[in-house]
This record gives sequence, structure tokens and C-alpha cells, in this order.
Amino acid sequence: MTDATSTATAGADFVVVANRLPVDLDRLPDGTQRWKSSPGGLVTALEPFLRSRSGAWAGWPGVPDTELAPIADGEITLYPVTLSTAELTDYYEGFCNATLWPLYHDVVVPPAFHRHWWNAYVEVNKRFAATTAKVADNGATVWVQDYQLQLVPQMLRGLRPDLRIGFFLHIPFPPVELFMQLPWRAELIRGLLGANLVGFQLPGGAQNFLFLARRLVGMPATKSAVGVGTKLGQVNLGDRAVQVGAFPISIDAAAFDSLARSRPIRKRASEIRDELGNPATVVLGVDRLDYTKGIDVRLRALGELYAENRICAEDTVMVQLATPSRERVEHYQRMRKDIEQAVSWINGEFGRVGHPAVHYLHQSMPRSELTALFVAADVMLVTPLRDGMNLVAKEYVACRNDLSGALVLSEFAGAAAELTGAFLVNPHDLDGIKNAIEAAIIIDPEEGRRRMRALRRQVMNHDVRHWARSFLAALGAA
Ligand code: ADP
Ligand code: F6P
Repeated sequence: MTDATSTATAGADFVVVANRLPVDLDRLPDGTQRWKSSPGGLVTALEPFLRSRSGAWAGWPGVPDTELAPIADGEITLYPVTLSTAELTDYYEGFCNATLWPLYHDVVVPPAFHRHWWNAYVEVNKRFAATTAKVADNGATVWVQDYQLQLVPQMLRGLRPDLRIGFFLHIPFPPVELFMQLPWRAELIRGLLGANLVGFQLPGGAQNFLFLARRLVGMPATKSAVGVGTKLGQVNLGDRAVQVGAFPISIDAAAFDSLARSRPIRKRASEIRDELGNPATVVLGVDRLDYTKGIDVRLRALGELYAENRICAEDTVMVQLATPSRERVEHYQRMRKDIEQAVSWINGEFGRVGHPAVHYLHQSMPRSELTALFVAADVMLVTPLRDGMNLVAKEYVACRNDLSGALVLSEFAGAAAELTGAFLVNPHDLDGIKNAIEAAIIIDPEEGRRRMRALRRQVMNHDVRHWARSFLAALGAA
């Protein structure tokens, strides 16, 4: 990656705006620094797409108080947006991740409402809008991402009415009763209405938004036709209309499929099984360490299955990867302790020397190792209490080209709307989860192949390019 100050003046005709850049600046203890891939599904989905078409990406480089010049990264120019330490606390950890995140995820933990957090959110959104206004070419298309930047569409329209602005929300958009708790609810809806097209993961989110636009901003909205892809609702603002629709996000399915088929990955997958002691069944969980992901739920289910001798640790071993996430936010710290306690309880009760029942790694893995784990796993557990989509579920399916493997999937993940061949579970129903895990372990191979074939048909035919193309086509027509 090189400094792009001299080449970055032309203006980009396509700009992605997201809280994070696709890469994070990592400062090492010896004073050196390096770039590493940013966490989360947003980057997994958008990065390969943007690299295939070129453009600009404005975002935060992952460390506070750092001014960086634009960076040329292959076909993409990165425009770092600076956050101060105070903004990291009030905007990112505060309003984004202790107000909006829990509010939009069914108030799984209580959201906190603080005016100084809101003020920081407004200020940071202004900065993102100003940076974007500077880097976008005349008449450019700008694609604003996620809940951290919901005011940017309106602010950007104020600065640059020539732009075509799309907004996509990666997380769930909450039911009206929950959204109405937010003291700044009308401001957020107005912020989003600055876009030409507002996209959600599921039709339900789009319906909620249309209802709120009518109720809070008093705009007539047409909501009868909202559906997936081309069926859009509309909010009429007098001088212009805002299109609203559902665009379920996906992955670079072909890339996962071909990596999973490659010889080195298959070899590594078989080594992983050896390293685990060659159990009959390898169960896998892969998540950011987030309280919405239901990691505790699946550990409780597994622990009870061991305790009831419905499975045994000689035959069934679990690997749980948990990417460190939002580590200074209180609820994340508490949840980490609870999960680590649950892991050590299971291992204390059911493990043997050299053979833990649960292998827990609080680490981010390279893509190749992650793919090898997907190939090695017989049963994948994806049990969020609420999730916008959950790309891990789709990644697992994309890696199962031999049609083996079973997916246990929460009904409350957006992916459940598409992946109906999974073992769908209510993450609040512990007995239901235990039954589903057991059924996934002992599934008849022919039935398993039938389910996996259907899952793969969906994932391979609806990849991230399909998602981006359908969103951008709707934005182009808006
Ligand atoms: P979210 O966006 O909430 O983090 P998703 O499931 O949609 O959830 O996306 C998570 C992304 O992060 C996936 O691409 C997944 O492969 C990746 N990921 C999750 N845990 C790890 C890990 N421990 N190491 C590397 N990548 C991970
Ligand atoms: O998809 C949800 C999301 O919050 C993204 O916006 C974000 O990039 C990712 O998860 C990881 O979260 P964070 O940027 O807070 O580490």
C-alpha cells in the first residue's frame, strides 16, 4: 500500500463510506506498525466487490488520533477518517455500540442513552460526510454503510446534491416499538432519507422503516410492494422520492468454494482433525465475540448434552473461534468472562488430559485456516439471538462442496430466511437447540446431502456480486 496523495485528487466515481476501512492499522509493541484485515461481515462482503470494480473507500483506520494521507491499495484508494480518543469512547463504543447496537438487536442488553454520545455521533457523521464530499467526483455514486453512519446521507446531500446516494444497513432494523425508545429517532430517520435508496437485509426491516418515516417525519410512504430485490417501497418527500427495499447480503461464494477444494486446505483440514484426536464429530462455532451471537447458548446446550451422555467428549469435540471485538465496552467484557467460565466448566467436567471437549480460541484467524476449519467441521453452530444476516453460515455452506456437513442455524439470523435447509432453532429454546445438535450429529448421510445441496444452491447462486449488483441497479434506477 502506498501514499496516494498525489493521485487522489481526480475524484472517484464510486465511493464506499463505512465506519472502518477494510484494513486496520496495527501498532506493535516494538513501535512498528502494519495493516491487517478489519473484523466483521461488512468488510468480508464489500472488499472483494470493490476490488473487482475499483473506487474509493472512506473509513476509520482502527486507531484513534491518527492523521493519515490517502492510501493507494491496488485498485482502491483508501481515505482515512480520523477519530479522537474521546470520539472513540463516545461515538464508537458509546452511541454506536452501547446505544444503537443493542437497540437494533432486540435490546438483548439494555441500550444506554446519553446526550454527549449522540453529540459525538453527529460530529463524526459530519466528518465522514465532509470527507466523502471532497473525494467524490461530480455525479458520483456513493454507498454509505451501516448503523454507524445513518446521518451521513442527509448531511452529504446538503453538501453535494449532485451525488447519487445509497445506504445499506448490515444489522437488523428494529421493530417500531423498540426504535421509538430512541430520543433522536426522528433525526435518524431524516438522516437516512437523505439517500436515494435505503436498503435492509430483510423485507421486515424495510417495512419498519417505511412505517417510521410516515409516523416520525410525516411523509407518505408506499409500503405494499416491499420485498426482496426489485420490489421496492417508496417514501415521497415532495421534491424527490426515496426507494426502500430488502437486499440480503452474501459472500464471495466461488472464492470460498475454490479455496475449500484446494489441496493445501484439504490437507490442513485433515491435520486439524488429527490434532483434535480424530473424533467422530467436529462441531464448530466462528463468531466475533459479541453477546448477540449466542455463543453462551450453544455452550450451555453442548454442556447439557455431555452431562446427559447424549454425546461424549471422546467422539464429539467442539472448536469455538471468537474474534476479539469491542473489548472496552462493558457488556462485551462481562460476556467474555461468562463464556470463558462456561468453556472451562465443560472442559473441567468432560475433558481428559490432552483432550479438551471445547477448544476455545480468542483469536482472529487467516482466511486459509478458517476455511480449513469449515472443511474439517461436521456440524456448524450459528445460534445468534438476533443477527442482520450472519455470513459465517453462508461461508460454511460454500465450503461443503462434497455435500457433507450440517448447519444448525438460529431462526433469528437474517440468513435463516434463505437457508431453510438448515436445522433451524429458536436460540431461546435450549431443549430445541440440544435436539437440533443431536439430530445434526446423527443425520442420515443421504438426508444430509439433500439438505446441503439445497443450501449450496441458494448460496452459490446468490453471492455478494448478486447482492451488490441488485443494490446498485436499484440505486441507478432510483
Ligand atoms: P459480524 O458482521 O456481526 O461480525 P458475520 O457473521 O456476518 O458477523 O461476519 C463475520 C465475518 O468475520 C465472517 O466473514 C467470518 O468468517 C469472520 N470471522 C469471524 N470470526 C473470525 C475469526 N476468529 N477469525 C477470522 N475471521 C473471523
Ligand atoms: O456487520 C456489523 C458490523 O458492526 C460492521 O459494521 C462492522 O464492520 C463489523 O460488524 C465489526 O464491528 P466493529 O467494526 O465494531 O469491530
